[in-house]
Amino acid sequence: MFARNCWYVAAQSSELSQAPLARTLLGEPVVLYRTQAGAAVALEDRCCHKRAPLHRGSVVGEMIRCGYHGFEFDSAGICVRIPGLDTIPDNARVCSYPVVERHRYIWIWMGDRSAADPALVPDFHTNDDAAWAYTGARLAVAADYMLVIENLLDLSHVGFIHANTIGSDDTSASIAWESTSDAVRGVRAAHDIETPPHNRRQGFGPRCDQQKIMTFLPCSHVTIDITTTERVPAGASQTAKGMHIMLLNSVTPETASSCHYFWSSTRDFAIDDPVVTEFFQSMTVRAFDEDRVMIEAQQRIIDRNPAAPTVTVLGDLGGVQARRRVAQRLLTETDAR
Ligand code: FES
Ligand SMILES: [Fe+2]
Repeated sequence: MFARNCWYVAAQSSELSQAPLARTLLGEPVVLYRTQAGAAVALEDRCCHKRAPLHRGSVVGEMIRCGYHGFEFDSAGICVRIPGLDTIPDNARVCSYPVVERHRYIWIWMGDRSAADPALVPDFHTNDDAAWAYTGARLAVAADYMLVIENLLDLSHVGFIHANTIGSDDTSASIAWESTSDAVRGVRAAHDIETPPHNRRQGFGPRCDQQKIMTFLPCSHVTIDITTTERVPAGASQTAKGMHIMLLNSVTPETASSCHYFWSSTRDFAIDDPVVTEFFQSMTVRAFDEDRVMIEAQQRIIDRNPAAPTVTVLGDLGGVQARRRVAQRLLTETDAR
């Protein structure tokens, strides 16, 4: 069971074309495409005639045509043509989902459509703000999406899993959590730590200060605001280098044990430098694949004995609060049915 009254990322804008795209979201088969006019559409990927998947059909103008017997559906999911018939049954329709195209993503609402307010789409503006540079991708992860959310909120793993990419030992960092009505936020502050490898490659000296602000936005988004400042020796004439990165992460459940992890790494420096962009793209792909390997291994162990006890420490509190928020949403939705 997943909370449904939330905006989830269904796809990157760049993935959508007039070629139908099949994707399982929240356990449901969904077909995504653009009409000839360019509008993004999400429909149940199950024809109401004989349940053939609509993604095996084709987009014809503003309609999608089932590839089996040619029924055609508009973007509201209503069947508007049945070859050889003049009358269309009233119940000839498939479910359509509200979508919003914003900040390089196609956002989908799979719950109560009357509550699908576009204003509730998270603010991911650095993905397409001219003052920021963007890199990003979708990563398939064979694990419960909440394991990825927990990974993003507990960054104590960075110095271990990512020791050769983006991490350095910051176990001396302080961590403080706060919860508001619409977010769970943690601030991780490290002083005078070894500079992470990727900052070194950008010319930083050996020591730095680093602050990471992790924000969980229910039900499936985590932003990470990272500021790294080079430490310069007292009395040195050079100015300390600084780096500001916003990581925007949306993790959409595919099934109970798999998810679509949409990530972006945005930065407000060297924004027109393709070499720096390529560096961030390849480094982040590598780093997040390190997470994927560990999380998938964790899921396999959990599957063997889901009731095995665990220990919770300070760094886990964000994940605990995030799970609570999602459970509350689920409860509210179940009560409303
Ligand atoms: S199954 Fe789609 S038209 Fe028959
Ligand atoms: Fe990680």
